[in-house]
Amino acid sequence: MKIFVSGGAGFIGSNFIRHVLQARNNHAIINYDKLTYAGNLANLHSIDDHAGYQFVKGDICDPIVAEAAMRGCDAVVHFAAESHVDRSIYEPAPVIQTNVTGTFTLLEVARKLGVSRFVHISTDEVYGDVAPGAFAGEDSPIQPSSPYSASKAASDLLVRSYVRTYNFPALITRSSNNYGPYQFPEKFLPLMITNALNDKSLPIYGDGKQQRDWLHVEDNCRGILAVLERGKIGEVYNIGGSHVEENLAVARRLLRLIAKPESLLGYVADRPGHDRRYALDSTKIEVELGWKPEISLENGLRQTIEWYKKNSEWVSDVRAGDYRSYYAKYYDNRENSLNAIAGTGSKLPA
Ligand code: NAD
Ligand code: TYD
Repeated sequence: MKIFVSGGAGFIGSNFIRHVLQARNNHAIINYDKLTYAGNLANLHSIDDHAGYQFVKGDICDPIVAEAAMRGCDAVVHFAAESHVDRSIYEPAPVIQTNVTGTFTLLEVARKLGVSRFVHISTDEVYGDVAPGAFAGEDSPIQPSSPYSASKAASDLLVRSYVRTYNFPALITRSSNNYGPYQFPEKFLPLMITNALNDKSLPIYGDGKQQRDWLHVEDNCRGILAVLERGKIGEVYNIGGSHVEENLAVARRLLRLIAKPESLLGYVADRPGHDRRYALDSTKIEVELGWKPEISLENGLRQTIEWYKKNSEWVSDVRAGDYRSYYAKYYDNRENSLNAIAGTGSKLPA
């Protein structure tokens, strides 16, 4: 099978490409990526010379370049997105452009070329806040809270409409919060790990009692491959970590694993519209495709911390680019930045 992977230079996409090339010797991959601040070809150095791998630089909003790259592919796995909630609050325009218009563009190209499977990578955030003690199933209402999750919900609904209207062969995965090697250090776990390793404060939003369902990226990649190969067309599959924990407890867990003091915990202004709880019911993929998470949070965190320790050069390289000014603008001065944006309304598209 020849697979067109969008966003393969990012965190989950690069782990997925490595996973597929390791697990299957009959699959070839075209990695199509714009290389935004989050895209990094260094994530794929280990397979640079693999005969079944090719990189094409391009924007998913560009139908001409995307079509040239997708031609001859049997399947699409669509990861490319602006993936960070905080950035979507500061500056929603690129998030809507890539996540909605970009997904629409890829759907049109894939429909024209007649690909046989299109896996759209979505998120548990489309379900919004999940009530205490409850778990979101695939049929739970779509109630996004941030510009990011609203853009993902919009793209999910577009995919759904293509299945119904055009009999388009799409499937959707909705995973919970991923962590693991090669995650950009703007997200909670890599930010906390790299800060703790450097004796910097761990910025906890609000009271830190928000809950997330933590999933190791390798477990997610196995789930996505199962959906690609064996999932039923038109279906949505939740992929959850079956490990729901409060942010503060996760931060304490990693401080213990790194042997750093709890005095590093720092409380900062809460994120506007912050969802309190995400928790997924993944029974469907477990029963229908025989998938379940295999890496416990404790072991996964241990391995991830070791990876960030060994790859300090990777961290300083990704932090050197656009991220430096983003961090200085928003993260160095969090008390003010999030509140100011919530108070004034986020920037409107130019
Ligand atoms: P990431 O930000 O690490 O990577 C995104 C990749 O997409 C980058 O390589 C970037 O260069 C590329 N990209 C961005 N805009 C593009 C464009 N217009 N054209 C082509 N390429 C573009 O993201 P990630 O964490 O790997 O997430 C991948 C997918 O998984 C996203 O769709 C995200 O919504 C979804 N997801 C992520 C998580 C998580 O915890 N990280 C959880 C659930 C779902
Ligand atoms: P994040 O990694 O941004 O993922 P998401 O918002 O998509 O779930 O954040 C995970 C949780 O951690 C979320 O509840 C927000 C919180 N958080 C902090 O407390 N401090 C931080 O610096 C960041 C980035 C996130």
